[in-house]
Amino acid sequence: MFRSVEALPAQACIGSFRGLSTCTAVLVRRFGGPEVMEYRNGVALPDLGPNDVLVRARAVSVNPLDIRMRGGYGKSLFQPLLPIVLGRDVSGEISAVGSGVRQLQVGQEVFGALHPTAIRGTYSNYAILAEEQLTAKPASLSHVDAAAIPFAALTAWRALRSTARIQNGQKVLVIGGGGAVGLAATYLAKAAGCHVSVTCGKKSVERVMEAGAQQAVDYTSENIREQLKDRFDAVLDTIGMPETESLGINVLRKGGHYLTLQGEIVSMADKYGLLAGGAAAAAKLVQKQVQYKQSHGIEYWWTVMRTDAEALEEIARLAKEGSLKVPVGKTFPLAEAAEAHKAREGKKTVGKVVLEVE
Ligand SMILES: NC(=O)c1ccc[n+]([C@@H]2O[C@H](COP(=O)([O-])OP(=O)(O)OC[C@H]3O[C@@H](n4cnc5c(N)ncnc54)[C@H](OP(=O)(O)O)[C@@H]3O)[C@@H](O)[C@H]2O)c1
Repeated sequence: MFRSVEALPAQACIGSFRGLSTCTAVLVRRFGGPEVMEYRNGVALPDLGPNDVLVRARAVSVNPLDIRMRGGYGKSLFQPLLPIVLGRDVSGEISAVGSGVRQLQVGQEVFGALHPTAIRGTYSNYAILAEEQLTAKPASLSHVDAAAIPFAALTAWRALRSTARIQNGQKVLVIGGGGAVGLAATYLAKAAGCHVSVTCGKKSVERVMEAGAQQAVDYTSENIREQLKDRFDAVLDTIGMPETESLGINVLRKGGHYLTLQGEIVSMADKYGLLAGGAAAAAKLVQKQVQYKQSHGIEYWWTVMRTDAEALEEIARLAKEGSLKVPVGKTFPLAEAAEAHKAREGKKTVGKVVLEVE
């Protein structure tokens, strides 16, 4: 049961929202191309759990994960749960809070991101996130700019800050520095006092230098390895192809960390089923960790975005002072989510694609 909060004081709307039991959302009932996305009114809104927050969404961004999920990535998990709502990031105002929510208030402007496995995503005018997945939106950021940040930045944080534990003065290489995660990683490594090199396309050089990289190497050049003269403490590989993995592994110092965003847990679960695929992926990861430890003396990781309230607060602080940005290339109304996916897949749009919610 949801009750309207309009006539009620802040925090009075505990777990319900009078008059609002449905929302508008982009549904995926079957996997496929952009045409499978259905913009629908009257989609049921579930009740809020004690730690849940109902966000009146103003902007939601398009992540590569949304496009992959629409096409069937993660089907071992999502197929039995169809229809699903895509979308991880959101920026908007709080409409209602669950009974256990302590820090956030009705009416507050917030932004944040769902975990990669969330079934009810944010392509909707009302999104539900746990309190720890949201934080106050800096007033200096528009909803569109804020929505572009959290999922990418939390992924970069998970890799570089939580796993590699980068320190002031260390050297970091970001492979794919021109993308959303790569740029966020560059800003975060710079903020941690690291020396940052990136590989990126020619058109991204200016943006990665603005983000704080000291060196930008064009990934189409033939002598990438020779241009990267440093030995790095951490390599974040957002691309995860055999050649980028080989590059990353071979430029690390002994004891350094190689972190790829292209782990195989989901793809193996899709191929062999959740249990068998999960077990096969775990075995493959351990085998690679042992192999690279023996051959190169390095730590090898598959990175997955994770909810981290403290990290999100720090990300908001950096964004507020202009030390973390994820540039937006194009916006579309939520009703045109399919067009937005086409624009992203066509790779003609530089920067993040964001859906604006009326
Ligand atoms: N594991 C996780 O939890 C997780 C979380 C977030 C994202 N991801 C994955 O990470 C990847 C990046 O995500 P994103 O949001 O940053 O995507 P994005 O904004 O679309 O960026 C992708 C970038 O890759 C760059 N690129 C393509 N080929 C390259 C190469 N050979 N070498 C260097 N750069 C290359 C392009 O750079 P230019 O524009 O400079 O050409 C492009 O901007 C996606 O595959 C996504 O699915 C995984």
